[in-house]
Amino acid sequence: MSEMRADKTILVPGKMPAHPVGRIEERFRLVRIDKADPALLTEEMKQSVAGIASATVINAAFIDALPNLRIIANFGVGYDGVDAAHAGTRNVMVTNTPDVLTEEVADTAIGLLINTVRELPKAESYLRAGRWRAEGPYPLTRGTLRGRSVGIFGLGRIGRAIARRIEAFGLPVSYHNRRQVEGVDYEYHPTLLSLAQAVDTLISVAPGGAATEKAINAEVFAALGANGVFVNVGRGSAVDEAALAEALGNGTILAAGLDVFADEPNVPEALLARENACLLPHVGSASVHTRQAMADLMVDNLIAWFTKGEALTPVPETAHVRSGG
Ligand code: NAP
Ligand code: 8YV
Repeated sequence: MSEMRADKTILVPGKMPAHPVGRIEERFRLVRIDKADPALLTEEMKQSVAGIASATVINAAFIDALPNLRIIANFGVGYDGVDAAHAGTRNVMVTNTPDVLTEEVADTAIGLLINTVRELPKAESYLRAGRWRAEGPYPLTRGTLRGRSVGIFGLGRIGRAIARRIEAFGLPVSYHNRRQVEGVDYEYHPTLLSLAQAVDTLISVAPGGAATEKAINAEVFAALGANGVFVNVGRGSAVDEAALAEALGNGTILAAGLDVFADEPNVPEALLARENACLLPHVGSASVHTRQAMADLMVDNLIAWFTKGEALTPVPETAHVRSGG
């Protein structure tokens, strides 16, 4: 392997913060297009692009349009937007950004849970509108964390960080994954429905993709019950959003806190209309500190791949891929 491959061309499709763009430019030749659309690739790009740094959808057609592509470095731990299985068949490495965002996203999940149950954003709006002075105290909230029992859908890195925080609140934790996690005492449920039946507070940290598509559905909301609270910091695609809006509207559940949506940045009108929904614009990892750490890991993956032939954080679907130099 050569010491540094400044000759390698890295493509950044779509938006990317200035910090990683600057680091890519220092080490590589950078090319940019507005979105990951094969029609926007010049003939020169098609031949020269060896790496992609991206926070957007990278599908099979885009991968196939780049015959010399060697690596896709995803800006985020969730890589459901990247067709990693297809990349694996093309001997293209895919990397993501695990661990560096775990505690930030867990903090956000807890903030969202409390805001949802105790209506803190609504209480602040009440104060700012002058209603405290004019009308008296904000009404008591129907919801409380006291006495709740919390289920986590997706007890991985972030799920465990959330569970530790929930434990500190004195609340019991149980979970559903496809596989039982060794070394934790939380109660395991082999199905999402049995988890929802056992708890009144469901926090989803599950990844997106076909395996979780609309898994959180009307049956799950009915199982949570009238005191039920649903919080999502995983992926919006895992939720049947129409069923959620209905469950919030007809009292099937008490409230929901959502950081993620199926078709971002478009939030369904039916959810916007629900007063008992606390809605955030996908800010789980969105601090300067954490986004910089994610960006550095993304760029460090590119550098490690082109200098040492090793990725720092390969995704499982491409763990077998070896560098061809
Ligand atoms: P992780 O460590 O891989 O955890 C994912 C967990 O989900 C694993 O425990 C996995 O266990 C479980 N899981 C995966 N597929 C499942 C399925 N089909 N059914 C049931 N359980 C399933 O990932 P992480 O680092 O904690 O991140 C989790 C997700 O959080 C990301 O993929 C991303 O979508 C989301 N995220 C959101 C934000 C935000 O800003 N809101 C920020 C970062 C991440 P099994 O494999 O045993 O099923
Ligand atoms: C980011 C995320 O908002 O890491 C993830 O999976 O959802 C968030 O941290 C996103 O990836 C930035 O593109």
